[in-house]
Amino acid sequence: MSNSEELSVNLAKKMDSTDPLGHFKGRFFTPTDSIYLNGNSLGLLSKDAATTLLRVMDEWKNLGVQGWGIGDNPWFYQAEKLGEKAASLVGAKPEEVVATGTTTVNLHSLVSTFYQPTEEKNKILADELNFPTDIYALQSQVKLKNLDPDKHLKLVKSEDGKFLDESKIKRMITKDVALVILPSVLFRSGQLLDIEGITENAHNKDVLIGWDCSHSVGVVPHKFDEWGVDFAVWCSYKYMNAGPGASAFIYVNKKHFGKESALTGWFGYIKEKQFEMNLHFEQANSAGGWQISSPSILGSAALEGALHLTLEAGIEQIREKSLKMTAYLMFLVDELLSEEPHNFSIGTPKEPNRRGGHVALEHKEAFKVSVQLMKHNVIHDFRPPNIIRITPCALNNTYEEIWKIVSILQEMLPE
Ligand SMILES: Cc1ncc(COP(=O)(O)O)c(C=O)c1O
Repeated sequence: MSNSEELSVNLAKKMDSTDPLGHFKGRFFTPTDSIYLNGNSLGLLSKDAATTLLRVMDEWKNLGVQGWGIGDNPWFYQAEKLGEKAASLVGAKPEEVVATGTTTVNLHSLVSTFYQPTEEKNKILADELNFPTDIYALQSQVKLKNLDPDKHLKLVKSEDGKFLDESKIKRMITKDVALVILPSVLFRSGQLLDIEGITENAHNKDVLIGWDCSHSVGVVPHKFDEWGVDFAVWCSYKYMNAGPGASAFIYVNKKHFGKESALTGWFGYIKEKQFEMNLHFEQANSAGGWQISSPSILGSAALEGALHLTLEAGIEQIREKSLKMTAYLMFLVDELLSEEPHNFSIGTPKEPNRRGGHVALEHKEAFKVSVQLMKHNVIHDFRPPNIIRITPCALNNTYEEIWKIVSILQEMLPE
């Protein structure tokens, strides 16, 4: 194929016409007249998700409080059922996953359970490129153990402000570390960390490890059980398309069932006995044991339909198309936008096994570029100081849309 053919819209159209996931786009609602490339921040509403959301509203309308216990989908079991369904996305047993709470609160709950500092092992290892909420949570968890975050929260530094050096992370898992908390995919650059290798390294040193997989579940397949991950948290409003503030997830490896949750609440009780209302807490022998409050039934209603759709498409197929789309975007940027007068560069790893689902476009006038893109109704996000994140989603974007935004950027000359 000649270079001009590779760069023409015809190639994009050809890839769309043979795309095995192409028909899923018709199952989503897209904001009018826009090219939506922001599913890494908020995934779109699907018809499937709208259907389950409306069904739950009907249940509420018709059953009132009885919705908890009767009907085809009693709400009392919803959190566990959604966990069972999501388990295959992360390579877990059905009882190791539950849809509950919100990501930051879930992180608090699991860190307060698994961070048990001793004389010898008392530090948490995290990194300076994680999403800030995780670091805020870890700082307060250290303080809650009467320790000093300046001394007991070690942050792996990045040499270039974009990527983390995985061998450095491994070197920093030293004897004094009690717990490691890392993001699977860095929210700015999109670097995907080697979850398996780092988990193995931590375990070889007798250190527990938990992952924040908010930027990878729904777009990257995971094998938590096989990799021996101790626990994980993730949100469902990004690549899982469950809606703003939708219920989040936790994974707890079965080997830790029986460990006492540090933040107990009545929905973590053994399900069959929860309504005996005893004052002595008996924890469920599953990830459900880490639930605290009544599940948000409306907050997880759209999640049910969204999850069906993801499972129907298949996570391996989603990953394959996502990688193909991000590779195509990076190719066009390198070919058409990397030189004068455009001067864009890619701030995301090119190797498929080192990147998640989004691409970081770097430009010294990124904010101005972002404003221009919004004027063209290209929905994306800007991350200061110089990053525009573009996320082509396997289930609701086309190759032609990628081609279009590159041509918009090509025509956009700096003011
Ligand atoms: C890695 C990561 N963790 C957590 C959050 C936010 O958590 P919460 O749902 O508690 O607001 C985000 C938000 O984008 C995130 O990127």
